[in-house]
Amino acid sequence: MVNFEHVTMIYDNGAVALKDINLHIDKGEFAFIVGASGAGKSTLMKLLMCELTPTSGNIQVNGFDLTTLKRRKIPDLRRTLGVVFQDFRLIDSMNVYENVAFALRVTDTSSKMIRRRVPYILGLVELSDKAKCMPRELSGGEQQRVALARALVNNPAFIIADEPTGNIDPALSYEIVELLNEINRCGTTILMVTHQHELVTRFPKRVITIENGTIASDTGRRGTPFQADPAGIYRGEASLV
Ligand SMILES: Nc1ncnc2c1ncn2[C@@H]1O[C@H](COP(=O)(O)OP(=O)(O)O)[C@@H](O)[C@H]1O
Ligand SMILES: [Mg+2]
Repeated sequence: MVNFEHVTMIYDNGAVALKDINLHIDKGEFAFIVGASGAGKSTLMKLLMCELTPTSGNIQVNGFDLTTLKRRKIPDLRRTLGVVFQDFRLIDSMNVYENVAFALRVTDTSSKMIRRRVPYILGLVELSDKAKCMPRELSGGEQQRVALARALVNNPAFIIADEPTGNIDPALSYEIVELLNEINRCGTTILMVTHQHELVTRFPKRVITIENGTIASDTGRRGTPFQADPAGIYRGEASLV
């Protein structure tokens, strides 16, 4: 699913963000990435989604070789990813429903499917009653759940989240991770950056620690292995209970 081989990232100003990183993440894993501010966590996430190109080394994500990926093929890679950012990146001029629907419209999903899928996902993140609200009318936690809904709506094989609970209170952070955990149990791979230790201790997942651009420790795979989705929970055929 993810493979980094000797990846180094040096920004144009000379800042060495990542040094000779080797990392492998299998399909169905749930891994946390932790580390101090400036350690290189966001750089790693941006490399994964091809927002940055490494200075050297090879990266494979979801069967795409990012070293040789043509610019026009980047959207194909992004379609296999659900991305959640710390600063939400919602579209201010669109209501909640439209923000989530937009993620489907850009991938040419049929109107019928959009009408089915968006309400289902909004229900999953418990925002059905906020569908007509504008982002500015929502709390930070609610905006974060819209961002999560948008990442989930395309049913991606892989979700990457850069501090998705960085701007919300602890109780809600647990709920968000609980939800990601549920989605992971249905087979989706999750990679989540966090600096909240209470999350990492509460959820016994793989923890990859980054320090000064290198992997300082890695617990390796933990928790329940990949399972199929027999109840059809994540595909929207059953309710999430
Ligand atoms: N666009 C950039 N240009 C130059 N240096 C950057 C840029 N983005 C990040 N850096 C530097 O790279 C290092 C890692 O940053 P980052 O990946 O954002 O860390 P983290 O997400 O762990 O806080 C830091 O030293 C940071 O200052
Ligand atoms: Mg960061």
